[in-house]
Amino acid sequence: MECVIFIGIQASGKSTFYKEKFFKTHMRINLDMLRSRNREDVYLAASIEAKQPFVVDNTNPTIDDRKKYIDIARKNKFKVVGYYFEPDYELSYARNEQREGKEKVREIGLKSTLKKLQIPTYDEGFDELYFVKSADGKFEVEKML
Ligand SMILES: Nc1ncnc2c1ncn2[C@@H]1O[C@H](COP(=O)(O)OP(=O)(O)OP(=O)(O)O)[C@@H](O)[C@H]1O
Ligand SMILES: [Mg+2]
Repeated sequence: MECVIFIGIQASGKSTFYKEKFFKTHMRINLDMLRSRNREDVYLAASIEAKQPFVVDNTNPTIDDRKKYIDIARKNKFKVVGYYFEPDYELSYARNEQREGKEKVREIGLKSTLKKLQIPTYDEGFDELYFVKSADGKFEVEKML
């Protein structure tokens, strides 16, 4: 069983990466879709209970944000894997500008996430950590040491 945690500012490509890499194998837990922490907790608990691999597709910028998932996953013998999306404010800003409706976030939200962002480390309890760069419509993934 695997718990995958994404870490990345808005419009850094997380949900696109999910579709490419995890759509067929992992449930997606996404706060924007679930709309409340309570509903998120229900899906998280269900995934753990069912031993179902899942991806937490939120921005998860701080150590504290991630701790909740890491703790419950480790306690239940899930492998914990993190994907850290290279923060590129200009690129994310430009991509966000192309969005419409609810998907488009406010500039202040993007800035605030960038400011809070704490680079993930193995000390937090990750079994594997990867760095994701997006270049010309493709993702490049490399293992973090
Ligand atoms: N590698 C890429 N190259 C070019 N464009 C990309 C790439 N990845 C994503 N995009 C585009 O950037 C936009 C944002 O991507 P996406 O919705 O996956 O970001 P996100 O990190 O999930 O954002 P949020 O945190 O707001 O949900 C989308 O319009 C997507 O098509
Ligand atoms: Mg997304």
